[in-house]
Amino acid sequence: MKIRVLPDYDALSETAAAVVAERLREKPSAVLLLPTGTTPLGMYRRLVALHRSGALSFARATFFNLDEYLGLPPDHPASYHVYMRENFYGLIDSDPARVHVPRGDALDPEAECLRYEAAIREAGGIDLCVLGIGRNGHIGFNEPGAPFVSRTRVVRLAESTRRVNAADFEADRSPERAITVGLATIFEAREVLLLASGANKAGAVAAAVVEGEVSENIPASVLRRHPKGTFLLDEDAGSDLGGGLAD
Ligand code: GLP
Repeated sequence: MKIRVLPDYDALSETAAAVVAERLREKPSAVLLLPTGTTPLGMYRRLVALHRSGALSFARATFFNLDEYLGLPPDHPASYHVYMRENFYGLIDSDPARVHVPRGDALDPEAECLRYEAAIREAGGIDLCVLGIGRNGHIGFNEPGAPFVSRTRVVRLAESTRRVNAADFEADRSPERAITVGLATIFEAREVLLLASGANKAGAVAAAVVEGEVSENIPASVLRRHPKGTFLLDEDAGSDLGGGLAD
């Protein structure tokens, strides 16, 4: 695992977009596993700009998203389907047949999870997984305690996560459950890039990267064992790491 600390959010977004663009140029048919949240917005904006300038095509790539709220139809304004359409997939030359987001409104959510996991396998596995991190160290919606061997499944959201995400929902009532790609599936990605920005992530980043042991209590800590894992931080998110680690 590597740690890179960039001066600020713009530099972080620029670097993240450059990594994704480089991997796609090396392998236009790459399979990407992608996050939502506020953190990756700058990266998506830059990737869209690269596409508009003619410098990058996504036409042969395959996309999977990490998670979706259980019960939300794909046109719900707080759904990750809408987020991804508005911020990325709808703004680039992605092939709709190769864009995958878990269906939160599936009649049989367990079957949807199995289908999703099988689709990742059939695509040949993930070449590059980009992640954000929750304030409690979650990745995707793998909350503290999630097994490292977990696959795509229905999970119950931590109360703290529901509070953070409540603003996206009417009357602050965020869903109690979600579908998330599991930690084993994330770990099997050939490369993982975790993005963290801002002082409110510093504690989670330090717990994931330097404090204590690798533990299911801090899901992101599993990435310490990843042969090609990188934590891409801005200075605020890296502020609890101590001097020696930043490159
Ligand atoms: C949500 C998502 C995660 C994301 C996290 C952090 O809970 N399920 O995938 O990493 O929030 O979001 P933000 O980048 O807005 O802090």
